[in-house]
Amino acid sequence: MRTQMLVEEAIEALSSQVDDTAIIACSGGIDSTVAAVLAHRAVGSLLHCVYVDTGLMRKGESAEVSQMFSEMGIELKVVKAAERFFHSLSGVTDPEEKRKIIGEQFIRVFEEEQSVCGANYLVQGTIAPDWIESGGGERDVIKSHHNVGGLPEDVDMTIVEPLREFYKDEVREIARHLGIKSSERQPFPGPGLAVRVLGEVTPERVESCREACHIVETKIREYAENGECELPWQYFASLLPVRSVGVHGDTRVHGETVVVRAVASLDGMSARYSPIPHEILAKISTEITNSLKGQVNRVVYDITHKPPGTIEWE
Ligand code: XMP
Repeated sequence: MRTQMLVEEAIEALSSQVDDTAIIACSGGIDSTVAAVLAHRAVGSLLHCVYVDTGLMRKGESAEVSQMFSEMGIELKVVKAAERFFHSLSGVTDPEEKRKIIGEQFIRVFEEEQSVCGANYLVQGTIAPDWIESGGGERDVIKSHHNVGGLPEDVDMTIVEPLREFYKDEVREIARHLGIKSSERQPFPGPGLAVRVLGEVTPERVESCREACHIVETKIREYAENGECELPWQYFASLLPVRSVGVHGDTRVHGETVVVRAVASLDGMSARYSPIPHEILAKISTEITNSLKGQVNRVVYDITHKPPGTIEWE
């Protein structure tokens, strides 16, 4: 009942705010999908949905997102932009710089799309933690989330943020109410795997991280479905630029490190690490080192709560 009211209010607000062509970046994540569905209900074909394939998404994600939008009857334009993202990230290792570059590239891709469709409004799926953690008011900047901190000041569109006051659990509730397929999907950061590849973001390192994330996601989901562990709120892998010695057959090799992260949380503002059983972690470790032979020879598990840690490593 309350959710229905929130949905109606949001659609009404969008209808009165947006009176011309609008554009939205759809990542397939819950926030941007909810924002897109609400905006589509409010303004119909005035809304142009664009999916930017940054080359930083998870395994199979681009195809899944296209399919989900097509099933919802919303047209989605896919822009292939991986090359320019990797090019602009070349040599960059600072996490804040990565976010800013990605935010800027996103906006530039958008400006190009804007000139194609003539949009005057930019709809964004920003939720409360995004701007609170980006230094809203007196708070310190914890992380500049790409949809806030990376936004250049010269954007020539009116920004519309229908989910600005909501927390993740509320957005999830709205997504369920709207029948959105990705409503139970775990959160995924806007800058994608770039913030899970510590150090330089190269296509090869992203590919290793993508594979490790895929293994962690599928294994943990599988064990949770069998009742062997609880399904964490978020669970993934990050690639660390820490090289250690390992052995392959008779040879000693230097490989990088994968850290597995799984947390329980309500809204991402605080979190507790998930006590995944050791047998499951051992299977994940073996699968990662087997799949990424020569690149990764060590897997560690993160047992830090938030605070003092954050959920992502960057
Ligand atoms: P942290 O790592 O700050 O993450 O504890 C809290 C939640 O936010 C996600 N996250 C991001 N989401 N842009 C986003 O849209 C970002 O730059 C970003 N950084 C972290 C993170 O995955 C977790 O769910």
